[in-house]
Amino acid sequence: MTEFTEWVRNFEDEARRRRETGDPDFARGTALPPAVVASVQRFQVGEAGDGANLIAKASRAGDDVYAAAVRMFVAEEQNHARLLALLLRSAGARTIDSHWSDAVFVRLRRALGLRLELMVLLIAEVVALGYYRVLRDGSRDPLVSEVAGRILADERRHVPFHCLRLRGELPRPVHAVWWVLLAGALAAVCWDHGPALRALGTTRRDFAVEVVGQFRSALASTRDLTESLLPGRPVTP
Ligand SMILES: [Fe+2]
Ligand SMILES: [Fe+2]
Repeated sequence: MTEFTEWVRNFEDEARRRRETGDPDFARGTALPPAVVASVQRFQVGEAGDGANLIAKASRAGDDVYAAAVRMFVAEEQNHARLLALLLRSAGARTIDSHWSDAVFVRLRRALGLRLELMVLLIAEVVALGYYRVLRDGSRDPLVSEVAGRILADERRHVPFHCLRLRGELPRPVHAVWWVLLAGALAAVCWDHGPALRALGTTRRDFAVEVVGQFRSALASTRDLTESLLPGRPVTP
């Protein structure tokens, strides 16, 4: 039995809960400002990757339980893409096929081994924590808030899931490089999504501060061997 046995159980519980709860009522429609539509379209593309590469690397890592958990993690990300596509449709908008930020992200991840890929993925997860929190709280539309809230709840579990796999594996100098990567990614997201952040009632600066705080907590949890990173005790508040 590995530490990931509980995570497999957690992913299974969540999948069951999703099936029982069903989807939000997309038929009621929503109105999204154009800047938010453009922003959600880009996040939708980012969520839509098939994860085959990550699954293959996890399978080669020699822990079948971890590989099973990764497959269920990928399924959750694909569900995020599906929910965002339905949200866009209910706002009368379409999905997009690609965006430069996703192309860069995917190329970078493919070129890396499992550990480095997880480091890059964790950056995407903490950016997602900030983004879906702002989308949930900044939209006055209940459907948007519900979709963002559901995705946010999953992303809050994904952070400790990745941190557990990375725990104790990264010497301090690696953390400095990690911060540089975060700074680059965050600058790109703030630049690209600035109008949407404004439309959702926040600023690039406040968004960046929130993401940096999430990243700091996540990094701390990869160093602190006493902190529980099992499901039910998320790293982030
Ligand atoms: Fe996601
Ligand atoms: Fe995630």
